[in-house]
Amino acid sequence: EKGGYPHFMLKEIFEQPNSIYDCIRGRIVNNGTEIKLSGITDHPDRFINASRIIIVACGTSWHAALIGARLFESIARIPAQVEYASEFRYSNPIVTPQDIVIAISQSGETADTLAAIKLAKERGAFVYGVCNVVSSSIARETDTGTYIHVGPEIGVASTKAFTGQVTVLTMLALAIGQLRCTISKEKLTEMAHALINLPELIKETLKLNKNIERLSSIFTYAHNFLYLGRGYNYPSALEGALKLKEISYIHAEGYPAAEMKHGPIALIDREMPTVVIAPTDELHEKIISNIQQVKARGGSVIAIVTRGDETIPEIADHTLEIPPVPECLSPIIVSIPLQLLAYHIAVMKGCNVDMPRNLAKSVTVE
Ligand code: M6R
Repeated sequence: EKGGYPHFMLKEIFEQPNSIYDCIRGRIVNNGTEIKLSGITDHPDRFINASRIIIVACGTSWHAALIGARLFESIARIPAQVEYASEFRYSNPIVTPQDIVIAISQSGETADTLAAIKLAKERGAFVYGVCNVVSSSIARETDTGTYIHVGPEIGVASTKAFTGQVTVLTMLALAIGQLRCTISKEKLTEMAHALINLPELIKETLKLNKNIERLSSIFTYAHNFLYLGRGYNYPSALEGALKLKEISYIHAEGYPAAEMKHGPIALIDREMPTVVIAPTDELHEKIISNIQQVKARGGSVIAIVTRGDETIPEIADHTLEIPPVPECLSPIIVSIPLQLLAYHIAVMKGCNVDMPRNLAKSVTVE
């Protein structure tokens, strides 16, 4: 049932070209010029009149939510905020009937997320689910939603669900933008084609596996890791760090790169490797200077860069190249080397990657 892979986690990482294909299938129509999500087309007024989007989730799904909020603001121009479901439910939140509350949950059974949407419904919000498990409690409790359709995820560490969630959130933002005319036809078509191209890019990125396996053996000694990223890849840094700590039991922290000098830089020494997510984008120069700051303090750097980057490979200790991809889709591609790095380090440390200690696949109690 592991399809020849030693662990479900590795199988699920390698399934991503297909799971993203399934996630997109039937939802990009008219020759790639239109996004069709029934959850939106059945309730156009809700989205046209929405004053705010509040996304509630936990763990990895919360990281996907951070990316989603950025997408909603930049593409659909709706103010968006992200809440930990466990905090939201006890915060007596201000929720109005003009608000759309989006719950993201792979399992659809997370107790805090379920309680958060019950509260949002009581307060009149329109509640939208982004789940994987069909007919799960959250899928049933929401007004409507979009399944990510990535197939069963068995490994406790979420991998293909995360990339599916980000893919659905991108399609949602595009579909709402299309409805509210906040995105041009050309831009929408360009993004739709980039989405269609994702399975190929993921396939290409998975070729890093052998390289990452070799690299991982160098880092099993570490007790702490720092992950840095900016913009759309700040949540990628959080997610990379969560993957590593969950399955390898190495302490890891994710930070927005520019925050490093406001504290975490004090931790950097030879013993503390830093993973820098640095695809070529508008703030590339700034992240190069973060790498130099880590190097100046004796820290080693594993950098994830866009193919063709000539500067970072000169200064980083190890470089992993990903193919070029639009900035807002880069977290999907970047997550592949981050998942593989956590996986191989954990396997080399002899950890049970599919069932890490103290963790359950779905957290149905508070
Ligand atoms: O099923 P959910 O998406 O609601 O689960 C939320 C978290 O419990 C989950 O993402 C958890 O953080 C994973 N183990 C992360 O790999």
